[in-house]
Amino acid sequence: MPVQDVNATRRLADAVTLPCGQLLPNRLVKSAMSEALGGRDHGPSEQLERLYRRWGAGGYGLVVTGNVMIDRRQLGEPGNVVIEDDRHLDGLRRWAGAYRGSPLWMQLNHPGRQANPLAGRSRPVAPSAIASGIPGMARPRALAESEILAIVDRFGTAAAVAEAAGFDGVQIHGAHGYLVTQFLSPRSNQRTDDWGGDPERRRRFVLEVLRAIRRRVSPGFAVGIKLNSADFQRGGFTEEESREVVRALVAEGIDLIEISGGSYEKPVMMGTVRESTAAREAYFLDYARTVMDLAGDVPIAVTGGFRTRQTMTAAVAARDCDLVGLGRPTVVNPDAAVELLDRGRERLEAPPIQFGARSIMRRFGELSALDGALNLNWHTDQMHRMGRGLEPDPARGWRRAALVMVARNGFGALRPRRGQ
Ligand SMILES: Cc1cc2nc3c(=O)[nH]c(=O)nc-3n(C[C@H](O)[C@H](O)[C@H](O)COP(=O)(O)O)c2cc1C
Repeated sequence: MPVQDVNATRRLADAVTLPCGQLLPNRLVKSAMSEALGGRDHGPSEQLERLYRRWGAGGYGLVVTGNVMIDRRQLGEPGNVVIEDDRHLDGLRRWAGAYRGSPLWMQLNHPGRQANPLAGRSRPVAPSAIASGIPGMARPRALAESEILAIVDRFGTAAAVAEAAGFDGVQIHGAHGYLVTQFLSPRSNQRTDDWGGDPERRRRFVLEVLRAIRRRVSPGFAVGIKLNSADFQRGGFTEEESREVVRALVAEGIDLIEISGGSYEKPVMMGTVRESTAAREAYFLDYARTVMDLAGDVPIAVTGGFRTRQTMTAAVAARDCDLVGLGRPTVVNPDAAVELLDRGRERLEAPPIQFGARSIMRRFGELSALDGALNLNWHTDQMHRMGRGLEPDPARGWRRAALVMVARNGFGALRPRRGQ
């Protein structure tokens, strides 16, 4: 059963207490979005401080940062912040200190085979030497067991540094085709040692990561995860297996599970793929409903597609989920939670960003993936505006976003290639 009073109607504005004792003052979560605002040597920048100062006024129950990498040789994209040790502790303290409001968590990630070829020179690593289907991605090298253990340890170190810097929690990135999901999925994990071969061994990695983090942080520090409901690919990670992962994480003492789904091969989480789940406003609600009872006292958040107060309120009241995660709407409306909870706003803006020159663009690749990349870049540009102290510009057109995308990444940007 969820933590709060079981019989009363639950409202978006109600607080939630996590198993670690942390209080989230309401049920709206600003979900992780990679800011690509890392500064020199992958430390945090002043722009990041400004951006989070802005979101601090937004009234969210919880704010999660964009993914922070744990190994500078393996990045999701140029401009990632990286934590390998405490060399950036002062900058991280300024970043955490700039944000005032509800708890602030840092999302931790290792990209595995989705390492961005534009961002790093090292060969990507993965559970098995199986390339992702994203064009332009290198074939990864299979990790040796000692390397797996070293990565697990890196998650623990990064979490300890995040706590020392003043963050209130960390979120393991266990979604969207990155290393944690690569271990979970039988498509990308074909190991036959203790880290693969059956569902139990495939989920060992994520459980070891959780244990490593717990060992290094204090009991009141929150540890959550963003987890895929499924990867929506034949022979891949299924909802049934995902439910088993939820059970195991709950038994290990996770504080919050945020549900998403898909990968950058199949970007269901962005709503750009035609899937039954993407057809309605909230993409992963049907799955979330099925894990609410399994999760016991651990709150379940769902992210992907929420745009109207009515849908959010109904999802929480009906116990389809405990919290609602918002990504892109918080970039267009940094005050989204205040707007929804206090100012009676009914609908958040979500400009339909896609290439206008569709017949020309079709030459460059599958349009849904290209639109997904443009959509990401358009939102990244808005975060960069806020990082400069400006307000977002919802009227910004797709052409400018496409130009900046090419300027930032070269024409390689027009090949579907990146993800968060
Ligand atoms: C620019 C951008 C960057 C993103 N970076 C991350 C990330 O670092 N970690 C993550 O878990 N999800 C990331 N996402 C996905 C969002 O958290 C969210 O799951 C997705 O946008 C769907 O939710 P929405 O419909 O509310 O936007 C990113 C999305 C965008 C648009």
